[in-house]
Amino acid sequence: MRVLILYESRRGFTLIVARAIRDELQRRGIFATTAPLRSVDRGTVAAAEALIVGTWVKGAIVAGVGPALGVEEAIARLPSLDGRPAAVFCTCDVAPGKTLDLLAAWLRRRGATVTVGETFKRKKSLRQVPRFVDVVLEAFARAQAFA
Ligand SMILES: Cc1cc2nc3c(=O)[nH]c(=O)nc-3n(C[C@H](O)[C@H](O)[C@H](O)COP(=O)(O)O)c2cc1C
Repeated sequence: MRVLILYESRRGFTLIVARAIRDELQRRGIFATTAPLRSVDRGTVAAAEALIVGTWVKGAIVAGVGPALGVEEAIARLPSLDGRPAAVFCTCDVAPGKTLDLLAAWLRRRGATVTVGETFKRKKSLRQVPRFVDVVLEAFARAQAFA
């Protein structure tokens, strides 16, 4: 299975998480690559059998908390995802608000089947990566079985 991890990062932590997820998938023998969400080319997306999409959380801590600006438009520009399995993640300092729900809803509009989401809060959350990858792979395997 070819897994593409798309990320929106401003200061680099979301990119660190994206690469940690890629490395964990590769350790398990899965072909996984990362690309920036806003500038990924259509061919790269078309070649992926499953997607993992992550963003940093932007807001005023309690108000207007959600995915970074430009993420909704970037997802809308992706080619049709046509029933492909997908997972979402976000990074934040305090709380993600509805970030994961919004990411999932926008990906579903493109046709993806999103069943898994995870929040990574600060550096120590990198420990969550192996468990997240377990859950993602279980969901992707279930989706393939029904495809
Ligand atoms: C302008 C701005 C607004 C932010 N708003 C929130 C917020 O409302 N809630 C929160 O938990 N973190 C917030 N953060 C923290 C970032 O989401 C967090 O540091 C994230 O991991 C950054 O990812 P990056 O290093 O990939 O850019 C904000 C950061 C910035 C720069």
